[in-house]
Amino acid sequence: MVPLFAPVRQNEPLFAEIQAKFAEVLRSGEYVLGREVAAFEERLSQQLKFKLAVGVASGTEALVLALRAIGIQPGDEVITPAFSFVASTNAIVWAGAKPAFADVDLETANVTVETVEKAWNSKVRAVIAVDLFGRQAPIEELKKWCQKKSIYLIEDGAQSIGVPNLRPDIYTTSFYPTKNVGAVGDAGAVLTDDAEIAMRVREISRHGGLTRDHYLRVGTTGRIDALQAAILNVKIPKLEGWTKIHRTLAATYRTRLQSLQDSGKIWLPEAPKDPLQHVWALYTVRVPQHRSAFLEALKNKGVGAAVYYPKIIPRQPVYSAPGEFPHSERLAREVLSLPFFAELSSQEIDFVVKQVTECCLSPSI
Ligand SMILES: Cc1ncc(COP(=O)(O)O)c(C=O)c1O
Repeated sequence: MVPLFAPVRQNEPLFAEIQAKFAEVLRSGEYVLGREVAAFEERLSQQLKFKLAVGVASGTEALVLALRAIGIQPGDEVITPAFSFVASTNAIVWAGAKPAFADVDLETANVTVETVEKAWNSKVRAVIAVDLFGRQAPIEELKKWCQKKSIYLIEDGAQSIGVPNLRPDIYTTSFYPTKNVGAVGDAGAVLTDDAEIAMRVREISRHGGLTRDHYLRVGTTGRIDALQAAILNVKIPKLEGWTKIHRTLAATYRTRLQSLQDSGKIWLPEAPKDPLQHVWALYTVRVPQHRSAFLEALKNKGVGAAVYYPKIIPRQPVYSAPGEFPHSERLAREVLSLPFFAELSSQEIDFVVKQVTECCLSPSI
């Protein structure tokens, strides 16, 4: 069986270092904030080239805090993709606002200026552009568009840690264990070049004020756990190396599956013109016909394939929002993600390629 993800394999080579960090934190008594969190924020801001980073409890919390820090409130709307993980939509609602869904581009699965323009109305105060599957959304174009409208751009980089800083107002990320850099539990971060925004995120995530018994805002317990920060201090320096492996693996899948694409059975994802703008959190192909048979066959053959995401967010029972999102609907029908992580062995790649090839050649699929 080749799993879709294998977070234990990311941790295994670092086991001794992580264990030592755990012991250090245990003995330090600094279980909340403290030196490991300060070091984590410093290291992450340097690595991702933002002036400031704030460690928070999860990628979802990062989005809620970002929205609250820019003053999103009831009556406001925030544009977010119809095809994505549900977290960005949930964050908008937790921040008190309403999601305004945008369709996505069929090739990139990301929002574009054209799709956000269609979702625009006068109540919109921000756009959350998700870098889906690790491919960066067109942040520069979106930023220009947001500037014209005098609204904020938040880049949801939960799946894209390591892409270039293209200067959104805020970049958020997640360290959920299966992400490109995984914690051993929940963790996230908010990054920005704006000191005022960073300060507000910090305050809101720490009960509303940085000084004890003096609260400036309605706050919460949204900060990162010191143990997670300590582990991430071991792992963040590995990011560039892991990202390079991801790009090589994506190129390998492409080369070895290309002939199947020519047969029309599957569509392979394109690398962007600037390869740095993709960190390949997932390798997501499209199967235009019989996706469920394809998926079942792969699973039966021992390939841990999965569908991210089978239903668009506006059609989830909790949201049931109106509107037509043809590309999102099509992606939800066709996408299928293959095993993808830096520690995948060459035998495992061979196995996945062989099984995908057999599925494509099978007359019953
Ligand atoms: C695109 C996207 N946004 C936000 C999140 C939320 O991150 P977390 O699980 O850390 O809350 C995730 C992943 O889980 C995600 O994939």
